[in-house]
Amino acid sequence: MTKFEVTTLSEYILNKQMTIPQSRGGFSHLLHHVSTAARMVNREVNKAGLVDILGEAGNTNVQGEDQKKLDVFANDHFIDAIRGCGEVCAIASEENESFIFFDDEKGRNGKYVFLMDPLDGSSNIDVNVSIGTIFSIYRRVTPVGEKASMEDFLQPGTAQLAAGYILYGSSTMLVYTTGNGVNGFTLDPSIGEFCLSHRHIQTPEDGRIYSINEGNYKKFPKGVKKYIKYCQERDDATQRPYTSRYIGSLVADFHRNLLKGGIFIYPETETAPLGKLRLLYECNPIAFLAEQAGGRASNGEKRIMEIQPTSLHQRVPFYTGSKNMVAMIEDYLTDF
Ligand code: AHG
Ligand code: MN
Ligand code: MN
Ligand code: MN
Repeated sequence: MTKFEVTTLSEYILNKQMTIPQSRGGFSHLLHHVSTAARMVNREVNKAGLVDILGEAGNTNVQGEDQKKLDVFANDHFIDAIRGCGEVCAIASEENESFIFFDDEKGRNGKYVFLMDPLDGSSNIDVNVSIGTIFSIYRRVTPVGEKASMEDFLQPGTAQLAAGYILYGSSTMLVYTTGNGVNGFTLDPSIGEFCLSHRHIQTPEDGRIYSINEGNYKKFPKGVKKYIKYCQERDDATQRPYTSRYIGSLVADFHRNLLKGGIFIYPETETAPLGKLRLLYECNPIAFLAEQAGGRASNGEKRIMEIQPTSLHQRVPFYTGSKNMVAMIEDYLTDF
C-alpha cells in the first residue's frame, strides 16, 4: 500500500462482497446506509452548541430517561436511513418501546432486522464529551414478505450477522465486525469518507485500565468490591495499581480499552439487580466485537452472547474487555 493510498469503507465493503459468491449485495447496501446516517449524525454532533440540538427534547423514553434532542435526531436519522435501504424489515431502538415494522413493499421483503442504541452516552452530549451509536444486525427468522415479529429480535447474540459502533470523538470512527475480525474506519471530513485506519483490531489479553462507576461502590457485589481493591493494590510484578478510566459513554470506554487493553464493568447493584446496560443493542454488539478482537464479554457467569433474550429492553450485568481480566473478575464473583 503506498503512503497516500486509502481504502474507503465503500471500497472495503465492495471488495468483501465480491468474495462472497452469488452475493446480491444486500448486506453491503445496508452497511453503506449505516455509514451515511453516521455522517449525518456526525455533522450535527460537530455543530452541537451552534445549532439548536443540545439540551432536553422535553420527553422521557421507554427507559424512563429524559430524552436529549440529539437522542431524537440520531434515532430519526438512523430509522430513515435504514428504512430507505430496503434490506431491513424492522428496527428496534433504545428510544422506541416496541420495534418498528417497515410495512411497505421494500420493507416486507427485507431479509434483516436492525437493532440500535442511536445515541450512547447521552449524559455527555451537552458537555462535549465523546458519544456513540451502537448497532446489531440479524437475519430475520420469520418468512420474508410477512410482518416481522418479536422472535426476529429475541435471538441470542451468537446469531448476529454484524455489529459495530460509531464513536463521535476527537475523530469519528466506525468500528464493525461481520464475524471475520474487527476493522476500524476513520472519517476523513475533507473527502467525507470513512477510511480504513485500524485493520484487524486485536485487544491485548491483559490490561492496566479498569472502567467502572465507583460512585456505586457501596452497592456493588462483594466480588466486584474485592476486584476493585485488587486493581488498587501495589504489586510491581503485575504492574499494579492499575489506572481507573471512566468516561460514562460505553462506546468511548470500550473503544479505549479495546485498543489499549482493559476491563469495562457495569455490574448488578443492590438497587439495579440486572445492572443498567441493555442486552440487545448495547451488550450483544459490544460482546461480538470484544470476542472478534480476542477479548471476552460476560454477565459475570456466562458469555453475554449465549443469553436467550426475553424482552427488547432487558438489562444485564456487563463485564467486557481483555480476556484475562474478565476471567479474573468472574473468579472473584464466584469466590466471594
Ligand atoms: P445511553 O446514553 O444510551 O442511555 O447509555 C448510557 C450508558 C452507557 O453509555 C454508559 O456506560 C452508562 O450508561 C453510564 O452509566 P452511569 O452514568 O450510571 O455510570
Ligand atoms: Mn447506551
Ligand atoms: Mn442511548
Ligand atoms: Mn439512554
